[in-house]
Amino acid sequence: MTYSFRMTSEWWRTAAIYQIYPRSFADANGDGMGDLAGITSRLGALQELGIDAIWLSPFYTSPQRDAGYDVADYCDVDPLFGTLADFDAMVAEAHARGIRVIVDLVPNHSSDAHEWFQAALAAAPGSTERARYLFRDGRGADGSEAPNNWESVFGGPAWTRVLEADGTPGQWYLHLFDSSQPDFDWTNEEVREEFRRILRFWLDRGVDGFRVDVAHGMIKADGLPDFTPPAEGGSMGGVSPAASGVALEPEISAEPADSAPYWGQDGVHEIYRDWRTLLDEYPDDRILAAEAWVDPLSRLANWVRPDEMHQAFNFAYLETPWNADALRRVIDDSLAAFAAVGAPSTWVLSNHDVVRHATRLSVTEANPQGHGLGPRSKGLPEYASGLRRARAATALMLALPGSVYLYQGEELGLPEVIDLPDDARQDPTWFRTAGERYGRDGCRVPLPWESAASSYGFGPTDASWLPQPAQWAALARDAQRGDPASTLSLYRDALALRRARDLGAGTLEWLPGFPESIVAFRNGGVLVIANAGASPVELPAGDVLLTSEPLDGRTLPADSTVWLAA
Ligand code: GLC
Repeated sequence: MTYSFRMTSEWWRTAAIYQIYPRSFADANGDGMGDLAGITSRLGALQELGIDAIWLSPFYTSPQRDAGYDVADYCDVDPLFGTLADFDAMVAEAHARGIRVIVDLVPNHSSDAHEWFQAALAAAPGSTERARYLFRDGRGADGSEAPNNWESVFGGPAWTRVLEADGTPGQWYLHLFDSSQPDFDWTNEEVREEFRRILRFWLDRGVDGFRVDVAHGMIKADGLPDFTPPAEGGSMGGVSPAASGVALEPEISAEPADSAPYWGQDGVHEIYRDWRTLLDEYPDDRILAAEAWVDPLSRLANWVRPDEMHQAFNFAYLETPWNADALRRVIDDSLAAFAAVGAPSTWVLSNHDVVRHATRLSVTEANPQGHGLGPRSKGLPEYASGLRRARAATALMLALPGSVYLYQGEELGLPEVIDLPDDARQDPTWFRTAGERYGRDGCRVPLPWESAASSYGFGPTDASWLPQPAQWAALARDAQRGDPASTLSLYRDALALRRARDLGAGTLEWLPGFPESIVAFRNGGVLVIANAGASPVELPAGDVLLTSEPLDGRTLPADSTVWLAA
């Protein structure tokens, strides 16, 4: 295979990486569920968009209790998504188009359908089979109380009691997520060896890297002590609702990261050093990207020290409201924290776990549940105002030095789908909180490709595992492609300019002299001015390279961003 990538060395420092959520990207066989052949058939659209790499959420063998983040076989493809041959064909096609491929690695927990967990259930307490997971006796005289007070991120207790072989209630196992997702015991060398095998399996198949799921959770504090949450205002996010844009807590960070005895334990780092050594045996710059919900950023930087991972998602940036002060602060903090360890900053606004930013940035009232949006949520924005801010926020992000992550559908300006019927929802959060938290289905609705086709071109039939809103016909890719004012054109133009001017490798210099509500900086030969305030602002001299909204002469309207040639 001849590779024709744009960058051959340390490509990940500046890359634009596009997240594919396989269930919802493209469906080749018409069963309503996206698949690998569907991805292969649509790679041309991503090449045209101008991204450097794709990251695929899980497509492995799985009962799909958490949309594939419950893995039963780490080295095979679930029949829902195709076969290993389909995977190889997808990688070959991506590489031929100059697109690198990152896959998801889910090492914190497996599915309860994994053969190891089934063997653990069949084996006795104290057995080597149980030692691969976190089985413990319960508290109380008859062991009927959970071993500690930890709660699942998805709601409810983090422990489930099993029935022993003789039918009596027995030990408990830990699951930080759904009860179908038992946590591995990462102090067990057998678990470590198994994951080295899994890494090699995919590296040998040609993947360019791994996004590491729950990379802050794999090691738990010794003795699994009870968790005493800190008083109000825990560290997670640390973002207070601002006048313009309310920060919504992400689904996944239900508890403050710093203090919980299962998040961010120091022991995780030796695992990543071990993996880094393994990856470095392979040619062509294979990477590890951490999904680690820890803060502050200076602490997150520990995940990307020179001998650990290459990148960590910048969730502090994602959680920042559309507010100029907050944006300047998080950009400064990010650049400083990552640079301190020689890593690139990353930037991200949306993913499969959070409310899409075309909706999130204009929500006006904090959601009392803090999680997901649905028909009963308050402060929901009009789509037009949300989209306007999203376009401005994206134009700002794509001018920043470092690597950017995009989530499928944001290039179409897709909003969160708020009015999903209750009986369509599938997120375990929805079930584990008896509908109190809506969960993440609203950002996972299958993509519209063709406005006039069945399922808007998602697949060859009407089938779609989550219903698509009727308004999405107008947002379909084919409806936006030839329109220079469309969100798709904005993304394509910004990515092309970012690439042509090498903004990813640039440096940021703040521009003085603008009102407080303006974020203004120079990156190389580009001046970037984002108006997060309510009043228009006069622009300095310079040809307009890109604008998220039409300009009014030389003034930049509210909620818009412009790039000028310096
Ligand atoms: C990560 C994934 C999320 C999943 C969870 C459990 O946070 O992004 O989708 O539910 O881990 O694997």
